[in-house]
Amino acid sequence: MAKFPIEPFRIKVVEPIKKTNRQEREQIIKEARYNIFNIDSEKVYVDLLTDSGTGAMSDNQWAGIMLGDEAYANCRNWKNFERVLKEITGLKHIIPTHQGRAAETLLFGTLVRPGMIVPNNNHFDTTFANIMEYGGDPQNFVDEPGKDTEIFHPFKGNINIPKLDTFLAANKERVPIIMLTVTNNSGGGQPVSMENIRQVRELADKYHKPFFFDACRFAENAYFIKTREKGYENKSVRDIVREMFSYVDGATMSAKKDGMANMGGFVAVNDDWLADKLREKLILKEGFLTYGGLSGRDLEALARGFEEVLQEDYLEYRIGQVRFLGELLEEAGIPFLKPTGGHAVYLDAKKIMDHIPQNHLPAQSLVVELYKQGGIRSVEIGSFMFAVPDRQTGEIKYPALELVRLALPRRVYTNSHLFYVAEVIREIYGYRHQCKGMKIVAKGESSLRHFVAELEYIE
Ligand code: F0G
Repeated sequence: MAKFPIEPFRIKVVEPIKKTNRQEREQIIKEARYNIFNIDSEKVYVDLLTDSGTGAMSDNQWAGIMLGDEAYANCRNWKNFERVLKEITGLKHIIPTHQGRAAETLLFGTLVRPGMIVPNNNHFDTTFANIMEYGGDPQNFVDEPGKDTEIFHPFKGNINIPKLDTFLAANKERVPIIMLTVTNNSGGGQPVSMENIRQVRELADKYHKPFFFDACRFAENAYFIKTREKGYENKSVRDIVREMFSYVDGATMSAKKDGMANMGGFVAVNDDWLADKLREKLILKEGFLTYGGLSGRDLEALARGFEEVLQEDYLEYRIGQVRFLGELLEEAGIPFLKPTGGHAVYLDAKKIMDHIPQNHLPAQSLVVELYKQGGIRSVEIGSFMFAVPDRQTGEIKYPALELVRLALPRRVYTNSHLFYVAEVIREIYGYRHQCKGMKIVAKGESSLRHFVAELEYIE
């Protein structure tokens, strides 16, 4: 087997990208108030902001787009979407939404009440904010290896079972649902083992709680189980996925990731009562039961995408490409979260920007520098995203890690792009101590402030 498997596809359509110079970019990022969400995408050279909705579709998916049936109710593409997801997950009710956070709104809006606590390995930003929105308290229980960027552990996304058990014993009245994010995006795109999933199931049974996946990257997670967990090496990814879902009562998913399309999501559940409640909300908030905010053509692209993501040569290439970028950084001596995860490389900004304290947003300073030096757009997953004041005490809780995520869109960039990215990071590493800390100067109040806040350097 090749160390880095080549792309199991060839390129049929290309989209030009344009380079700017450093002087132009300094002006652009200043005008963007040092928030990379404000930069025009045309002014970005290599866009690693997210792997969400940014992938390239296959010719088979584009062909499916032409077969979009845009009838209001029961279009044929919905039938395909529902059938494929039922086959893959084994879950009973499939409820389509326009993206992941809409699925979260339906689920948490139904189950979460003020004062309730929702445990997870790590909540992602929208999950976190959606639970807060309904007065809930999102809490993270990722196991210790997941908080360390250096030590090697095959499943750094695992939840800490004894801690979760103790927590549930003390708070069971306040917990409406247990979540588990596969792979663990905020914790480095790290996978969760089948054993850990099974153990969470046991706790869910012990305390009579529903157990749900945040399943955005379920196929990438399954591939890690196949390649890292004993007993799974000869199983197909499809069978592993089926087993993963056999332990949960439901899932929310942003299909913009492992759905291999540009838009979409769903919530899936086994419970009939909950399905009815979710469907009532769906009609109110998203659309009719068989389209949920999506066009027929979107549903078709997704139905085909869910099949493609399970192809093992694709997953081998996908995970290999992330590892490839990791190895380039390793050769250059750059600190990053190891081992590399499923969809992104996460730079360890605490170590790279070791001269900037956490309250001066070291990871955001690195995000800005990546843009200035190379036109690379990344995203901060650290204090800018998560260090918001506690609702009761007002005290700011800093996250364990300060990360800069370089997310790889699916089937979009080649390894030459990644050579360039690694080179830019190597240059910055050489002069990193010249980079200054940052502060929020406007729009910092929201729990999703990283999308909108304005920043300046601390002089
Ligand atoms: N859960 C996880 C684990 C996610 O990574 C995301 C989105 C969502 C839920 C929400 O899904 O965007 O479709 O509403 N993550 C993207 C990212 C935005 O860049 O990681 P959505």
